[in-house]
Amino acid sequence: MNKHEAYGWALKQVRAQIKRHVDRVATLANTAAILKHRLPGFFWVGFYILREDKLLLGPFQGPPACMQLSLDKGVCAEAVKKGTTILVDDVDKFPGHVACDGRSRSEIVVPLSNLADQLVAVLDVDSTELAHFSDEDAKGLEAVAAELAQIL
Ligand code: SME
Repeated sequence: MNKHEAYGWALKQVRAQIKRHVDRVATLANTAAILKHRLPGFFWVGFYILREDKLLLGPFQGPPACMQLSLDKGVCAEAVKKGTTILVDDVDKFPGHVACDGRSRSEIVVPLSNLADQLVAVLDVDSTELAHFSDEDAKGLEAVAAELAQIL
């Protein structure tokens, strides 16, 4: 299965979760699990929820991560500030990158908005390989983000 097909399957499964949605934590937890299991090379995948002036760790799959992030540095903060997807080929070259696990080498962060178009969270994925993520990942994860708007 290529990446395009894997995202297609993941999106289908996420839509099925959204249809059965009862609780935000549960839906986000299953979304993280779907992405981790469908997409090869996802070392860590999860959500950070915007709460006042911080990003708080939400549902995720992978090793333990930073429980809160400030909005003044890091890739997640940059995605919030710019309101766009941030792709980082080499985390060591991103000024202010927050290393929750030293094995992460590349990263992609997609902002998540609700139906009122308010940015409320980010979806963050880390890989242990340099330059693991491409525009295809950006498109695939943004499609997932667009679905999640319904439950945020
Ligand atoms: N690297 C992120 C922090 C979150 S972890 O990757 C799970 C950042 O720089 O914001």
